[in-house]
Amino acid sequence: MQRFDLKGKVALVTGGNGGIGQGIARGLLECGAAVVIAGRNEEKNKAAVSELSKIGPPVSALVLDVTNEGQCRAAVEEVVRRHGRLDILVNNAGMGAPGGPALPDDMPLVSWHKVIDTNLTSAFVLSQLAYPEMKKVGGGKIINIGSISSYMGAPRWTAYGPAKAGIVQLSKNCASAWGKDNIQVNTIWPGLIDTAMTKTLQGDKAFMARVLPRIAAGRVGAPHDFAGVAAFLASRASDYVTGADITVDGGLLWGV
Ligand SMILES: NC(=O)c1ccc[n+]([C@@H]2O[C@H](COP(=O)([O-])OP(=O)(O)OC[C@H]3O[C@@H](n4cnc5c(N)ncnc54)[C@H](OP(=O)(O)O)[C@@H]3O)[C@@H](O)[C@H]2O)c1
Repeated sequence: MQRFDLKGKVALVTGGNGGIGQGIARGLLECGAAVVIAGRNEEKNKAAVSELSKIGPPVSALVLDVTNEGQCRAAVEEVVRRHGRLDILVNNAGMGAPGGPALPDDMPLVSWHKVIDTNLTSAFVLSQLAYPEMKKVGGGKIINIGSISSYMGAPRWTAYGPAKAGIVQLSKNCASAWGKDNIQVNTIWPGLIDTAMTKTLQGDKAFMARVLPRIAAGRVGAPHDFAGVAAFLASRASDYVTGADITVDGGLLWGV
């Protein structure tokens, strides 16, 4: 459908080499966008490009550590060098905590900084770098990945929760500042999704017995569950949607 057509658009998806990011890259490619995925692991990048290139529109990868400002600048420049423009930025790269989730009384400051830098500061840095490129082409779309932990609390989400809450306000403030430039900024909140990040959690029988009955959809989410919502938020179908939070959690957040 034309309203969701992304032909001629160019997207950068951080963490697009696996999990939710790869599901998002798939959705954007299926609607016709050229996509550059970015992650630290070159092997994962190559495998994802080989899988995604079956869809059709051009897809390529670049090696990027989103906590490195210089690499972020080079990544945006490289996308523009490859495709001549940047229309869509997906700030998806993320992590739990180095060494596993930790209680507030336990978490070393260095781990706090790592989680905040990876999940929140990177989105600020990349959005700031993408902004002039989006202005040049008359508008753009920024999709930030929050979490149900943007809202809920848990003993061991010490840095992760604040990072994911922060990205919601970053989205709203950028949406407010850049609306005049026709740039829409929205946040997707995944629930419990089957990716590398949640493998250990999904192996915890007591946790799953508590959480699964609260998911109205009756199942854990999958990366492909993000393809449609990302395509919507990247397309002109969402031109009047900005600063919004969209849960993609099968109903987990409100389930009792
Ligand atoms: N899975 C869930 O249930 C869930 C729930 C709520 C929110 N989320 C959020 O969804 C997003 C994707 O997570 P996922 O579940 O798909 O996890 P995942 O499969 O572990 O993917 C994480 C991605 O982020 C990339 N990444 C991590 N640190 C990076 C860095 N410093 N620089 C560049 N790339 C980096 C990884 O690639 P490299 O290793 O190659 O760098 C990988 O592609 C994250 O923001 C996460 O917080 C996930």
